Amino acid sequence: MISTSQECSLHSSTMLSLLLLLLIPSFVISSLKDEEKAISLHEPLEEFHAKMSQLDKEMEESGKLTMDNEREKILKERLEAFSHLSRMDNLTKTDVLDVNVHSGLINDLYEGDVLLTKEQLDSLSISSNSSLRARRQAWKPKRFPSNIWGANTPIPVSIDPSYPQDSIQVLRDGMRFWNDNTCVRFAEGAQGTNKVKFIYGNGCYSWIGMIGNEQQVSIGRGCGTVGIVTHELGHTIGLYHTQSRYDRDHNVIVNTANIQQGTAHNFDKETADNTDNYGIPYEYGSNMHYDPFGFAKDNKVPTLVATNKEYQFSMNGDMPTFYDVLLVNKYYNCFETNCKGVAVSCLNNGVQDVKNCRQCRCPTGYTGTDCGKVDPAFEVIPAKEGARVTKEISVGSGKYETATTVAKKFFVIQAPAGKRIELIFTGVSAVVTSSDCSYGGIQVWKNKDTRMNGLRACRKEELAQYYLSENERVFIRIWNKYAFTNATFTYRAY
Ligand SMILES: *[C@@H]1O[C@H](CO)[C@@H](O)[C@H](O)[C@H]1NC(C)=O
Ligand SMILES: *[C@@H]1O[C@H](CO)[C@@H](O)[C@H](O)[C@H]1NC(C)=O
Ligand SMILES: *[C@@H]1O[C@H](CO)[C@@H](O)[C@H](O)[C@H]1NC(C)=O
Repeated sequence: MISTSQECSLHSSTMLSLLLLLLIPSFVISSLKDEEKAISLHEPLEEFHAKMSQLDKEMEESGKLTMDNEREKILKERLEAFSHLSRMDNLTKTDVLDVNVHSGLINDLYEGDVLLTKEQLDSLSISSNSSLRARRQAWKPKRFPSNIWGANTPIPVSIDPSYPQDSIQVLRDGMRFWNDNTCVRFAEGAQGTNKVKFIYGNGCYSWIGMIGNEQQVSIGRGCGTVGIVTHELGHTIGLYHTQSRYDRDHNVIVNTANIQQGTAHNFDKETADNTDNYGIPYEYGSNMHYDPFGFAKDNKVPTLVATNKEYQFSMNGDMPTFYDVLLVNKYYNCFETNCKGVAVSCLNNGVQDVKNCRQCRCPTGYTGTDCGKVDPAFEVIPAKEGARVTKEISVGSGKYETATTVAKKFFVIQAPAGKRIELIFTGVSAVVTSSDCSYGGIQVWKNKDTRMNGLRACRKEELAQYYLSENERVFIRIWNKYAFTNATFTYRAY
């Protein structure tokens, strides 16, 4: 069915190019829109919706979302603890799910922003049918489809001619991110049968993996941030959402009482036998993680509650993280393909850089070919034992308008070797707050291992008041895109 509609679309796009030569621009734009709609969304939609209802039923029957008393208790505690920190109302919509709610598309896509082929859809409906397990194992893992593009193989990319010129740069920045950090290679203008086309559709969405012929990625109105482009291209590469990992129940609790009726299928999870997480730990701050308010009935109350409460406000990263990149490099076999026979040893949890095998790719705060140096971009704040010292930091233009570039400052609080750092936040405030803190916020890395995305906050209450670091360093990043972000903390070596 999908391939039929694609043949149709190829045919109609040939017709369309003929029309383009003949007709006035306004007509062209409206026909493009019709065409995009016809080939972009699950067709027929009724069938997709029926499938999703079936999945909802299966999930209920299988008890995938049922909680035992202990989880119920944790959930209740967390919700109470965070009740005064409900979602801010005047946030600017920068999240994929928000954009797709706004565009009215959310329920026509899988997990809010994903298009699935018939084959992928069919593989979902047996996910909870144990009598079909044996058959399912013959299927390719659903989370990481085998239909990937190939290491270092140019993925031909085109941008729809009607795409708004002033929004094209973020598409290129998003492609460049994956090109610079992995062996995936988006190549605008390259030729090939299987290819990707950016469209300015109604919302943000993508297919999962390479589906054959031309597949679209929609980066429509409201989706024009580099982080959304990397997220949608993450799907194009073959990634599903982080919170559907089979081990997600150790990390998040789905607040089923607050998910909209008929959307349970969006909280489906994989099973251990059809999924490989490539040894990557669950990352709340992954670029592929849902916003914690996705599919909420009451959109001030989260639908995803972190079992590790420190991370409640740190879900859904604005850009792919160290682990997101590592995942793609493992999934695409980039280490083997690019660096076979080249050994490199890395400090501070660095990993071999697949783009330059003789050096390491470093986690937050470190740099150098072996990640042995503290990154000089982080201004050193020396910490001594004894009295606590207070530091106030303000980042931003102070102007009450959205800045074109994000202002950033980086700090490392450094204690003498063998000591730790005691850190107390007494104030954190951004003028505009949102669940992703994209208009201003702070991020803190207090563990020795800085691979995991840091704790994030744009209000003081979103951070714990007291931290004791694991080793002699704490890394801090503060950013702002509107007026200012202020942070005040006291610290000492301990
Ligand atoms: C909304 O944003 C304005 C600044 O644009 C701020 O002054 C106000 O406190 C915010 N309100 C909420 C509820 O976040
Ligand atoms: C599971 O598969 C069996 C065998 O095909 C079928 O009879 C049964 O109805 C299925 N159950 C569900 C819940 O889909
Ligand atoms: C943030 O810091 C700036 C610069 O020190 C200051 O002008 C501003 O009043 C501060 N805002 C708040 C809310 O503390």
